[in-house]
Amino acid sequence: MRPTTLTKFLITRQRDGKIDADLRLLIETCARACKAISIQVNKGKLIGAGDVLGTQNVQNEAQKRLDVLSNEILIEANEWGGSLAAVASEEMEAPVPIPLPHPRGQYLLLIDPLDGSSNIDINISVGSIFSVLRCPEGVSEPDEKAFLQPGREQVAAGFALYGPSTLLLITVGDGTHGFMLDPYVGSFVQTQSDIRIPEDTSEFAINASNMRRWEPPIKRYIDECLAGQDGVRGRDFNMRWVASMVADVYRVLSRGGIFMYPRDAKNTEGRLRLMYEANPMAMIVEQAGGAATDGNQRILDVQPKRLHQRIGVVLGSKNEVERVTSYHAA
Ligand code: AHG
Ligand code: MN
Ligand code: MN
Repeated sequence: MRPTTLTKFLITRQRDGKIDADLRLLIETCARACKAISIQVNKGKLIGAGDVLGTQNVQNEAQKRLDVLSNEILIEANEWGGSLAAVASEEMEAPVPIPLPHPRGQYLLLIDPLDGSSNIDINISVGSIFSVLRCPEGVSEPDEKAFLQPGREQVAAGFALYGPSTLLLITVGDGTHGFMLDPYVGSFVQTQSDIRIPEDTSEFAINASNMRRWEPPIKRYIDECLAGQDGVRGRDFNMRWVASMVADVYRVLSRGGIFMYPRDAKNTEGRLRLMYEANPMAMIVEQAGGAATDGNQRILDVQPKRLHQRIGVVLGSKNEVERVTSYHAA
């Protein structure tokens, strides 16, 4: 049987009435932009991908050439297609309404164009993350307010992982599905269908250098994992931390695990961004049978107050996420 390409996958969903033609085009356009970004990632030092440009984004993070290039590629690919009303990006201070003469569509796109910036210059996997919302009815000039919708309103979410292979993980609300780029043909081919995250795990991911600043429930959970067989958990745990959320989350999708970037005494709101990272990943993980909270609340139910707001993130295998959340409630 011929493999299912991303195009075929999306057309099938359009025919089934799960997505409309505009959303299909939007997802395909993001996928096409990710192919272009993956080529630039491969070129690496040949194009100075990791060079610090001397500019900062709105969150005071130093921008690298690949951060800016990836942002340009995603915006340029999307602005003329007619599906979008506006785009917001981790790398841009304010949302950009689609400029004339391009037609405006009904969707809002949010992007983390290059996730894992600290790994660009050391040849470790990075990625791109996207989230799609509907533009509220009656809004013709979408501004920040139009974007401030809880994550449960997302109509699609996805991420590309530029690793040894280029992968694309997407959901349109009927499960999480995986595709691999066939670089010789130039198409994404479906390699995983309806991914299920095991409910239990013995693997955790956290940046342990922040340990002294963690809140007591996180400290308790990790202490118990580290105590392993000798402690209350009665079994040993393994630890992993890539420092590219896309790679850590893909591992969780593939073999289970819990991924945490909790708020702490330094990052009091958290480190990761609600609208560009936490929400799309929470939707992808929930659609694969996992869970995602900020420690207290389901991430997808958080009402955003600001576009660039940060949040604590605990996601992955359901039973472990529920355990961490119960420690916060205790
Ligand atoms: P970005 O490169 O978009 O700024 O995001 C990086 C994020 C995330 O990918 C990763 O999990 C985390 O930052 C790594 O943080 P540390 O450097 O503190 O480990
Ligand atoms: Mn990121
Ligand atoms: Mn980024």
